[in-house]
Amino acid sequence: MTDLPLDQLLAARRSIRAYSPQPVSDDLLSQVLTQARMAPSGANLQPGSFTHVRGAVRDALSADLIDAWRHGREEAEDYSYFPKPMPHTLRRRQVAAAQALYGALGVARDDRAGRDAQFERNFRFFDAPVALVVTMEHGFGSGGYMDLGMTLYGLMLAAQAKGLSTCAVGAMASFPNVIRKHLGLEASSHIVCGMALGYAAPEAPVNQTQTTRCHLDEYFRVVG
Ligand SMILES: Cc1cc2nc3c(=O)[nH]c(=O)nc-3n(C[C@H](O)[C@H](O)[C@H](O)COP(=O)(O)O)c2cc1C
Repeated sequence: MTDLPLDQLLAARRSIRAYSPQPVSDDLLSQVLTQARMAPSGANLQPGSFTHVRGAVRDALSADLIDAWRHGREEAEDYSYFPKPMPHTLRRRQVAAAQALYGALGVARDDRAGRDAQFERNFRFFDAPVALVVTMEHGFGSGGYMDLGMTLYGLMLAAQAKGLSTCAVGAMASFPNVIRKHLGLEASSHIVCGMALGYAAPEAPVNQTQTTRCHLDEYFRVVG
């Protein structure tokens, strides 16, 4: 538990991709989710749901996701995320984020096996003690995803305030049918992302990843 003020929580949160085996109690997880749900949403519709995937179901899900990914299987995603094609400015940011990650791991640009080994960890929720799958009811457009994004950031900060760490796992969204099958979800439940949550393994090389943000001038302007 930390008593950090919000500005320090905002600065301290990072995506954590290696965890200590220390379990997270159901009570603590419920508190984090309850606080995350304080996020605002259009007409207070509170879109999106969380499934805590545990035990044998989690193991089978990860095994199937890894199998699908290793075999290059392709599914239609439930929603589109990145612009296609990626404009140059955004591509540069994407490359910088990848360099930060693989640089921390000491994985060279041409080390396909090293990169794949890290990518595969997405499908194991980075072995975090808590594996969440985030879903969205069919029919919501961008506004609903915006609302859910606020909840997700609320979750990350609520977790951070309790000494926990997180990493969203968008890679999961590549295989929505695999996930629905294991979670017993209808096709009307859209798969948004995974979320790893737990206590960080602070010394792990992957957790030394440091990303930067573009300067205020690039996304803020004043008129009038
Ligand atoms: C919705 C969402 C999906 C993400 N998906 C992944 C993912 O699949 N794998 C991964 O390693 N990181 C993932 N990330 C983490 C981003 O790479 C990370 O937030 C970004 O590089 C900024 O770094 P920071 O979170 O440490 O500040 C995701 C982040 C968000 C918000």
